[in-house]
Amino acid sequence: MNDLATFAPRLIAWHSRHGRHDLPWQQTRDPYRIWLSEIMLQQTQVSTATPYYLRFLERFPDIATLAATAPPEVLEYWAGLGYYARARNLHRCAQILVAEHGGSFPESAERIAELPGIGRSTAAAIAAFAFGQRGAILDGNVKRVLTRVFGIEGFPGKPAIERTLWALAESLLPADNIESYTQGIMDLGATLCTRGRPDCANCPMRGLCIAERDGRQAELPTPKPAKPLPERESIVTVFTDGERILLERRPETGIWGGLLALPEGTPEALAPGLGLLPGASEALPELKHTFTHFRLTLRPIRCAVKASHHTAEDSARGLLWLDRSQLRTAALPAPIRKLLLALPQARR
Ligand code: ADE
Repeated sequence: MNDLATFAPRLIAWHSRHGRHDLPWQQTRDPYRIWLSEIMLQQTQVSTATPYYLRFLERFPDIATLAATAPPEVLEYWAGLGYYARARNLHRCAQILVAEHGGSFPESAERIAELPGIGRSTAAAIAAFAFGQRGAILDGNVKRVLTRVFGIEGFPGKPAIERTLWALAESLLPADNIESYTQGIMDLGATLCTRGRPDCANCPMRGLCIAERDGRQAELPTPKPAKPLPERESIVTVFTDGERILLERRPETGIWGGLLALPEGTPEALAPGLGLLPGASEALPELKHTFTHFRLTLRPIRCAVKASHHTAEDSARGLLWLDRSQLRTAALPAPIRKLLLALPQARR
């Protein structure tokens, strides 16, 4: 047997001994009850959903009762579960079933998936549990199991990866026993192959699982790529008399707090306030630096000034003429130090 072919038998054997068999929605083939459980369990754990599920069924025992109730009362029975679009869709769906399907569920996953609030995976689960129809499911738990067992790299929410996973999920389906298989893969993801601390020692996929073999459980599934950081730009001026460079102490709070940095602004804008007469200037190569919350591009301009002396007033304003020999030890941010050390030697 090749590896793919052992997946389903391992899962079914494990499910019969260790899976969950006594959840309230497992004692029925009623598509209404199964549908309700699948919708409630989409964003909610079994332990939280169970009391809601029982209460909801007591008040709305069938599709017709649900369809005939005004939406605010349906929402009352959902209150506390969150993601209220689920309850609104549930009600709309019940009305469509009554109006267009004679008050019962269509028996194919494709038709079920056309109803509001029911995606491809949920439709396949309902069709499997209610009608024994063979079809693949692919919710978050199943994605985690498949990416780990088969070592599939890439964020599973990415369309290309998702297509691969659907094709894989289809190829793994057993010929029979779709109910146990489907419940088994859900249970494996929910109980053993958990996000934080998978219980690999007790997993039926031991020996098959690539993540377990390579110790990569923490890296699979590949996390969602981080959002690109916002970009900021700033022009800074390197006033230099050839020997010394004018620096400014940054405020204590904010980026580079308390360090010496280049004054922000063009030579023309800065010079009058600093009492300097700007000479020739040239743009230096831009400098990029990544902070935790943004990316900064500094556009430095080097500007020649006549020899200038350090005054008491300069000190009071946090300005400092730094000699090139002090560059290595002064309290400078690393990228600024690097930029200044790369400046051509003094021209006199
Ligand atoms: N999560 C989604 N569907 C489920 C089910 N049928 N049993 C347990 N957890 C689930």
